[in-house]
Amino acid sequence: MELKVQSGDITTWKGDGIVVNLFEGAMSPDGAAGAVDKKLRGVLTTMIKKGEIKGKLGSTTIVHTFDKLPADHVCVVGLGKQAEFTLDRARYAAANGVRALRNVGAKKIATVVHGAGLGNLDVESAAQANVEGIILGLWQFRKYFTNNEDVKTVDQVVLLDRDPTKLKAMRDGAARGEIIANATNLARDLTNEPSNVATPTYLANVAKEIAKKYGLEFDVIDRERAKKLGMGAFLGVAQGSDEPPCIIILRYLGGGKKSAPGLGLVGKAITFDSGGISIKPAEGMQDMKGDMAGGAAVIAAMQAIAQLKPAINVTGIVPATENLPSGKAFKPGDILKAMNGKTIEIVSTDAEGRLILADALVYATQTLKLSPVVDAATLTGAMVVALGHHRTGVFCNDKELGDLLFKIGEETGEKNWLMPMDPEYAEQIKSDWADIKNSGGRPAGSIIGAMFLKNFVGDAKWAHLDIAGSVGGLLGTGKEDGYKNKFGNGTPTRTFIHLALALASGK
Ligand code: BES
Ligand code: MN
Ligand code: ZN
Repeated sequence: MELKVQSGDITTWKGDGIVVNLFEGAMSPDGAAGAVDKKLRGVLTTMIKKGEIKGKLGSTTIVHTFDKLPADHVCVVGLGKQAEFTLDRARYAAANGVRALRNVGAKKIATVVHGAGLGNLDVESAAQANVEGIILGLWQFRKYFTNNEDVKTVDQVVLLDRDPTKLKAMRDGAARGEIIANATNLARDLTNEPSNVATPTYLANVAKEIAKKYGLEFDVIDRERAKKLGMGAFLGVAQGSDEPPCIIILRYLGGGKKSAPGLGLVGKAITFDSGGISIKPAEGMQDMKGDMAGGAAVIAAMQAIAQLKPAINVTGIVPATENLPSGKAFKPGDILKAMNGKTIEIVSTDAEGRLILADALVYATQTLKLSPVVDAATLTGAMVVALGHHRTGVFCNDKELGDLLFKIGEETGEKNWLMPMDPEYAEQIKSDWADIKNSGGRPAGSIIGAMFLKNFVGDAKWAHLDIAGSVGGLLGTGKEDGYKNKFGNGTPTRTFIHLALALASGK
């Protein structure tokens, strides 16, 4: 899909469909919608009066223009109440607008920048959010369908505004939005890819290609090297699988070699989680192809960071392996030793994410001395019980970092919620046989996951993002909503990118 930014009059634009907007409760169309209404001889005004168009957030109404305009269709997208309007609502509306036009077969679409007019957003941020909404909203994963006859696709979307003085801000915002949305879509592609394709080696190859294309340093720790480094927790999980495991490392040097080691992004990449010997029930197990979503987000964010070039060093670390039962698999009762020397009693081989993260976090914080370090993982089913699908649980040992992640969540729509980590919870992972055990039973399951990880971060500033619910669909409950697709929606790719930008700008 080609994206363009132009200044011009949307009522004379030649193409298949145009998108305009309306705030909830507005009695007459304004701005571009008003101009379109005039050409349509008041059709929109009539529909508003009759209550057929209400402007409710994300609603879409398609009107055929019957040659009163060069475009065949007009889509009026609702922006919700003006007083409640936000940047994320612009993103949401933009996605629904282009998708509604795609449904009626439009291939060439022009749209106003939602929020840049009456919405009172600054033009650059609005253009960025609109482009993100458009690219994310049009994403599809159809590569394994062999019959694509009835599939509708959009070829071109043009952001249009009558005011030529807005053009530069629109272009700058759109360019950034395109980079960020394309990265997010890469995370989605990787997460939706089945596990017979998206193996650890496959992920490493994708990362290597990105490194070559965008000028990142690339490194990979294979089984042998992991052994030498003493990564017993990671290797314990990997030992049941015939698929070679690896830890993928991407490094972006934006702060220069001599400056601080910088930000660390760590992502769980269990390319398939069967539960291992503590095997999962068969129902829904197919969703566990998405148990590498955290790792996908790290790889994708590194791509965007390489393109956006913030003035900070960023290292992405992705421990990748399958979790399978076999004659070689690790077992309940086994004791593993992590890279920092801590011993771990295995209570459940299904609590594997925290094990591979343990060694990755030691490597990030103690070997590479990165700080802050933020990890993302589809770590616990309990996270879905606690917060459902609309917010990521954030566990953090630094208030400033936690507050920043919360703020970024409100702006990106990858919403976060700060979770507790009181020391009392550590009681639950005390072991009779080793330093700690890898599961503490059912109470506060996601907090216990975080308490476990805390043993491996030393003094680094650290945040753990449990995305089991927010990444969408991993319990078979996903649904498409605005710019979010139903399975593996790319969370927290945009959070990671914005975090790097925010830390680089010192804000
Ligand atoms: N990958 C799962 C968590 C998960 C479940 C993610 C559902 C998305 C949707 C993780 O490896 C796991 O199995 N966690 C266990 C931990 C328990 C054994 C302490 C869980 O949540 O049941
Ligand atoms: Mn598991
Ligand atoms: Zn898992």
